[in-house]
Parts: sequence; structure tokens; C-alpha cells
Amino acid sequence: MKKVPKQLISLRVNGTDYELAVSPNRTLLEVLREDLMLKGVKEGCDDGSCGTCTILLDGAPVRSCLYLAVEATGKELTTIEGLAEGDRLHPIQQAFVDHGAIQCGYCTPGMILTAKALLDRNPAPTDQDIKIAISGNFCRCTGYNKIVTAIKMAGQSAVRR
Ligand code: FES
Ligand code: FES
Repeated sequence: MKKVPKQLISLRVNGTDYELAVSPNRTLLEVLREDLMLKGVKEGCDDGSCGTCTILLDGAPVRSCLYLAVEATGKELTTIEGLAEGDRLHPIQQAFVDHGAIQCGYCTPGMILTAKALLDRNPAPTDQDIKIAISGNFCRCTGYNKIVTAIKMAGQSAVRR
């Protein structure tokens, strides 16, 4: 069988630059988890339906299981590991803790990054805005009310700062 050559890609992930040689068929999810060991990026369905693998690509949420790593070359990526500052949680992370929006936590990284993209463009979203934004992120544990409350409160605390 013919071997497909690897391609050299450059990614900026959570403020750090990486040059990686990757096979052209590898997903961003695989490269982030397996090559960069960013295990906060969660694998759920692996077919684009659950939102668990969501990361930010140039500030916009994308499903990393549907995105080829080679397509991300030259882009700026944010994973959940990029949000906290040292021991200090990002305000959205803190709001999820404060409002009981985490149970098993499996959906949480993708949910929080989706929320960040929303709050970056609209710090005072309505409940409806939030429900639409997170409609592709499935949570099997909490129901969604606490998640909606946490995102709303995170937006309000950002407006107050
Ligand atoms: S693992 Fe990517 S959408 Fe479910
Ligand atoms: S907290 Fe468990 S899936 Fe959402």
C-alpha cells in the first residue's frame, strides 16, 4: 500500500506555537489529544453530533472531530487548557462551578468554549440566545437550566468588571 507523506503544519494553541508533521487524514481532535496531550478536548460521538470535542479556531467554535489538522495550519486554537490563568479559573469556568453546571464534566470543556465564543460577541445574551448557542452541545447529566444560568451569570460578571 502506498504511504501518504506527512505534512508540516503550524498551529498556535493556547498561545504557544507548534510545528508538527501530521498525516493528512488525522483530525484536529486526534492531534490535540494524542500529539499535544491536551486531554481536555473530549471525544464523544466522533461524528459531529455531540459537541463534546468543541474547541475555538480563531475564536469560533468548531467540532475538532470533523476538522482535519492540516486545515488548521496557521490558525489560532483555544482549548479548555488555555482559559484558566494559573490557579485562577476563567470566569465562565468559575460560574459553572458556582452554579452547579458540572456533574460528570465530560461535556464541560466544549460547553464552556461554546459559551466563551458567545459571550465574546454578546456579553449579555438572553436565555434564548444561550440555548441557541449551546444547542449542538449535549449534556447527559445536568439538564440545561444550570448551564444556561452559569453562562448568563458569567456574562453579567464580565459586564460588571
Ligand atoms: S466528538 Fe466531535 S461532535 Fe461528538
Ligand atoms: S456534566 Fe456530564 S455530560 Fe454534561
